[in-house]
Amino acid sequence: MWDAFRSRRWSRLLAAAAVAMAVLAGLAVAAGAWMYARAETSNVGDLDFADELAIPPLAEPTVAPDGTKVFDLRFTAGETDLVDDGPTETWGLNGTYLGPTVRAERGDRVRMDVTNGVDETTTLHWHGMHLPARMDGGPHQMVEPGDTWSPEWTLDQPAATLWYHPHLDGETAEHVYRGAAGMFIVDDPDEVPDLPDTYGVDDIPLIIQDKSFDDDGDLSMSTPFGSGIGFLGDTIVVNGSTNPHLPVTTELVRLRVLNASNARVYNLGFPDGRSFWQVASDSGLLARPHETGRLQLSPGERAEIVVALEPGERTVLRSFAPDLGPIFLGGRFDGGDDTFDIVQLRAAGELAPSPPLPDRLATVDAPDAADADVTRTFSLRGTSINGRDMDMDRVDEVVTVGSTEIWEVTNEHGRPHSFHPHLVQFSVLDVDGEEPPPELAGWKDTIYVPPDTTIRIIARFDDHADPTAPFMFHCHVLDHEDRGMMGQFVVVEPGDEPDLSGMDDERGHDH
Ligand code: C2O
Ligand code: CU
Ligand code: CU
Repeated sequence: MWDAFRSRRWSRLLAAAAVAMAVLAGLAVAAGAWMYARAETSNVGDLDFADELAIPPLAEPTVAPDGTKVFDLRFTAGETDLVDDGPTETWGLNGTYLGPTVRAERGDRVRMDVTNGVDETTTLHWHGMHLPARMDGGPHQMVEPGDTWSPEWTLDQPAATLWYHPHLDGETAEHVYRGAAGMFIVDDPDEVPDLPDTYGVDDIPLIIQDKSFDDDGDLSMSTPFGSGIGFLGDTIVVNGSTNPHLPVTTELVRLRVLNASNARVYNLGFPDGRSFWQVASDSGLLARPHETGRLQLSPGERAEIVVALEPGERTVLRSFAPDLGPIFLGGRFDGGDDTFDIVQLRAAGELAPSPPLPDRLATVDAPDAADADVTRTFSLRGTSINGRDMDMDRVDEVVTVGSTEIWEVTNEHGRPHSFHPHLVQFSVLDVDGEEPPPELAGWKDTIYVPPDTTIRIIARFDDHADPTAPFMFHCHVLDHEDRGMMGQFVVVEPGDEPDLSGMDDERGHDH
């Protein structure tokens, strides 16, 4: 009888527990479904493209007596009208949002007079530029408020669409997000394929950032629930425009697309199904145009595309759901299902003729795997590289000048990452052992590394040895970079040892 009583009490308790667990499980499923539903973001259908796309002005250099082109770039804080609720507090260079487009030729000597006109220490890095480490504008080249830093170098690399942005250790994401970034176009007078090339007319920069705004129109930068890549915004800002159309006046228009976002991957194409031609990747022209319907760009990557329009027609450059690779739920919490209209292209009733697209664009003399002197491995996991977090005093890799190196980069887990070495243009040898697809066949400096994937890249380290100053390599998902997903390499003459002990006194100064 006692037993019966006890078992009755137990069964009542068990029943109650089962009900509670069912309720909790139900709540968890409901919460999961709610979060899953909320995780998809889109602006498709919300825009009427009423505003003409802003075009960053071209920076006007002064020419020093020795021929050096001198560009002034001044960090500026201020208010910008980005959304109706604004104005928004932003940063820019020579203006309150973004910076001018710097344009110069291979062979030019350039000096950049970078003045810090904001009240925080920052830096300005020339992403994709082949130059000495001390001129690179990485975390060591800090510019204090009020100071001017004046790096100079000679442009010596293929024609490419590069960019510049702050690179302060631990604060790159925030500074770039506020808008301190711009394009840097390198022309090569010896390699000029017949492509549309009138800046602002048929050669158009598209600097794409995703942002979120609070009710007062100010920027917010919170990481959405479940995101493995940090901040994702719900509003697309292109050159400072949030509802833009581009008036097209020529049969072909060339778009230089820069993904200047913190974490978002875009998968560009047109909803009317038209194809277009990719003519360049990050660090140079492709050997020949690559016709495609989609082009994916991870943070920091660039591409140049050429689009053909008929007189009077309109089409929209849209970002379709990106393919982030093998990720839980297709990467839905990392923007994997998001779609965004970027800019509408509006062709005039009559279009000026464009030269036909050339078959051959450039010579891409990539090194051969057989010529490699060294292979290094880089393992991406969490927000560390090879198990280590960024340390400004530590040299992670020592490269001997004159060598050709293969860097084997593996994403060891289920989160999106990318990889960007400073100093060099690289060529992709293979992706998980397979030959790279055409969009990865040209010179690059930044590459998306999908989960559980190994990418081998190859580069020549021909010059700019300096044992006393490091270059960076890092994940270009900016939140990851700021959390330490970055390392340092030093290029030395054979037999030299790196020595960073003098780096501490590297500070911007008035010149
Ligand atoms: Cu776009 Cu190390 O930078
Ligand atoms: Cu860079
Ligand atoms: Cu990463």
